[in-house]
Amino acid sequence: MFESVDRVVSDLEKQGYVCDKRIATVVFLSQQLGKPILVEGPAGVGKTELAKVVATALGRHLIRLQCYEGLDEAKALYEWEYSKQLLYTQLLKDQVSATMEGAQSLTEAAQRVADEDSVFFSERFVVPRPLMQAITSEEPVLLLVDEVDKSDPEFEAFLLEVLSDFQVTVPELGTIAAKQIPLVMLTSNDAREMSDALKRRCLHLWIDYPSEELELRILDQKVPEIDKRLAQDLVSLMHSIRDLDLKKVPSISETLDWARSLLALNASDLDESMVTDTLNVILKYEGDINKAQKELSKLLQQKAAEAAAAGPQVVEEPTEAPKKKGVLH
Ligand SMILES: Nc1ncnc2c1ncn2[C@@H]1O[C@H](COP(=O)(O)OP(=O)(O)O)[C@@H](O)[C@H]1O
Ligand SMILES: [Mg+2]
Repeated sequence: MFESVDRVVSDLEKQGYVCDKRIATVVFLSQQLGKPILVEGPAGVGKTELAKVVATALGRHLIRLQCYEGLDEAKALYEWEYSKQLLYTQLLKDQVSATMEGAQSLTEAAQRVADEDSVFFSERFVVPRPLMQAITSEEPVLLLVDEVDKSDPEFEAFLLEVLSDFQVTVPELGTIAAKQIPLVMLTSNDAREMSDALKRRCLHLWIDYPSEELELRILDQKVPEIDKRLAQDLVSLMHSIRDLDLKKVPSISETLDWARSLLALNASDLDESMVTDTLNVILKYEGDINKAQKELSKLLQQKAAEAAAAGPQVVEEPTEAPKKKGVLH
């Protein structure tokens, strides 16, 4: 259990997750009120990661249901293990024959098989999928319903039912109620609006692209080896790139990939040629790369002007021979 909002911040930070008070408050309240959290926001801003670190911080096993178009109850809840049922009927064929012995008609034979079908539709042959696993787990778990916006509205309605009662009914087995109520987090990349009913059931959390300050802290946490000034240039340029009208706006994942790439290239400055050579690390569409490329000189000049206007940097300068300055300085 998290004891306070501040404990959420510090416990998540221990897992390498930088979060502000707003996020921590929703996580804390979800635990206190026993309500699921619906986390919405663009791709790559740390929604899935948030669920993972909350699970680890609470010592809960994470059960993840990855949603996709066409996902149905069977895939999310349980399936019958047909191949095992078939194998058992093969191995038990002597017993099956004995059961049928003396049957006077096909109907009677079928009736005798039907009388025994509970053997084959028992827990032994059920394959629990994530929702069932979360409900039947003896240990308290964290259920992550990831990218729920990719599922169909019918599935969302079914999910809502499960989240209301935390029990499921399997016709052959009866109603199975949760042994413990799981902590639930749903994420959505905002591909479609979630229903009002789902929103009502959940605490809502919107995670947007981070502020420069937060992104620098994340970078420092995840790629601590990177030079501080290079990190500042990178984050500042990333924010300008996000303002362009792009098909796929780069997210925190791309910032981290870019930083790691610059490290791998031993880059000490983010000058125009270095940015040109590495733009494909952060932009995934040719059109976006061309657009950013066209704006690049302007962007770098704008950043340089901003840096100059902000006055001298507080970043420590190396004491030995001065390095070649980047376009931003
Ligand atoms: N606040 C944060 N602190 C630390 N790392 C973060 C943070 N937000 C995002 N990340 C990193 O960004 C990457 C993308 O996060 P992810 O959870 O997969 O995004 P989403 O699920 O929103 O698409 C991961 O590598 C994650 O570690
Ligand atoms: Mg995700």
